[in-house]
Amino acid sequence: MVVGTGYVGLTTGACLASLGHRVTCVDVDESKVARLAAGRVDIMEPGLAELVARGLTSGGLSFVVGAREAVRDADGVFLCVPTPMGAGGAADLRAVEQVVGEIADVLPSGCALITKSTVPVGTARRIQELTGRPDLAVVSNPEFLREGTAVSDFLGPDRIVVGSDTPGAADWVANLYEGLHAPAVVTDAASAELVKYAANCFLAMKLSFVNSIAELCERLGADIEPVTRGMGYDRRIGRSFLKPGPGWGGSCLPKDTSALLNIAESVRFDFDLLSAAVEQNIAQRDRVIAKIAGAVGGSLAGARIGLLGLAFKAGTNDLRDSPALSIASVLCAHGAEVTAFDPAVGGELPGMLVVDNAYQVAKGADAVVVLTEWPEFTRLDWTYMAELMHGDAVVDSRNLLEPRTVLNAGLSWQGIGRPRATVRATSVS
Ligand code: UGA
Repeated sequence: MVVGTGYVGLTTGACLASLGHRVTCVDVDESKVARLAAGRVDIMEPGLAELVARGLTSGGLSFVVGAREAVRDADGVFLCVPTPMGAGGAADLRAVEQVVGEIADVLPSGCALITKSTVPVGTARRIQELTGRPDLAVVSNPEFLREGTAVSDFLGPDRIVVGSDTPGAADWVANLYEGLHAPAVVTDAASAELVKYAANCFLAMKLSFVNSIAELCERLGADIEPVTRGMGYDRRIGRSFLKPGPGWGGSCLPKDTSALLNIAESVRFDFDLLSAAVEQNIAQRDRVIAKIAGAVGGSLAGARIGLLGLAFKAGTNDLRDSPALSIASVLCAHGAEVTAFDPAVGGELPGMLVVDNAYQVAKGADAVVVLTEWPEFTRLDWTYMAELMHGDAVVDSRNLLEPRTVLNAGLSWQGIGRPRATVRATSVS
């Protein structure tokens, strides 16, 4: 039984069904449940719609409204409801508490209540108290799914983390994943809860560090690309999460860094290292904005700026805490005329014109800015882009484009931490 059909809940439900478990997914949104029961998946997750369809056909997966009825014969209930950032940066647990309150008295004895949503350390204990039922097991089983690759992350995980203070309960949950042959870290509830925050916050710090090194590259005349390549071959550092950008965003890293800072504060620990990473991330967005302003002559007022990308990363249509969107809104607030294109984002957005292809973004633009690393942007005809543009500035906040291609089209190019690449390419006519 899975409560909540967002990208975590739906992926969990569909993947567990594919592993041979009988899964019922519950949501409060009636129309969403009806769409899912008909095999219609609204979120953009490669492979998910196929898994849902397979589960529906085999009968291993079903969708219903209302948790209370559905949980009566459940062996385990996965809680996959949102835990957004609440007041003061702490995780808002109202949705979790609401579901627990709704189902606690009808759960069969011995049932495992499993938190998949990212919840503060101590939540398992709090849930146990809330249920008032020592015969239930509360288990923390954090997810490490990235948006856009959630299905492959679920089915090919680096590890499974499961923690409970009820003997045997964590092993029972770990066994649900037996078919995946991933190492399992079986521990107490608080440790499992902390693993999730520690992992996401470490990734955020790694990115803030890389973005700071990129800034140093600009000031010292070095190139971030070979610098990160040279770092990444060190197996203790690893190659992933070393790409500089406009700052980290999305529905997880910003929320989890702020929640862990809050948790640290609650036990009077100054987590300066993590606060610095968060501050650096804000500064990173400001740096990209300053680059754009510089590229259009210093003043954003009246400048025509074309944005390539709005989603917080490629492969998703998610705009939550997207650095691209926050940069766009600052540009608008400073009086720039902003046109934007994102292959996965349509509709209207305040202050800017959202168009349906990349060339429309270039039309009359003083500067074109890459904000999301969609691979299709590398395949644009930059000579044609140059013809359409009014100015000649390309700001590539993802270091996505081949600088030489852009420069050969008669445009200027600046990335993040790559002053040498710009200079070298400029000298090639
Ligand atoms: C993140 C974690 O990677 C998952 O392991 C975790 O399960 C998930 O949060 C969650 O808590 O549910 P996600 O938010 O989907 O996943 O996004 P990431 O792929 O981690 O990217 C986060 C941000 O870092 C994005 O803004 C991305 O553009 C940026 N990023 C990532 C870089 O700027 N450079 C990189 O090299 C990698």
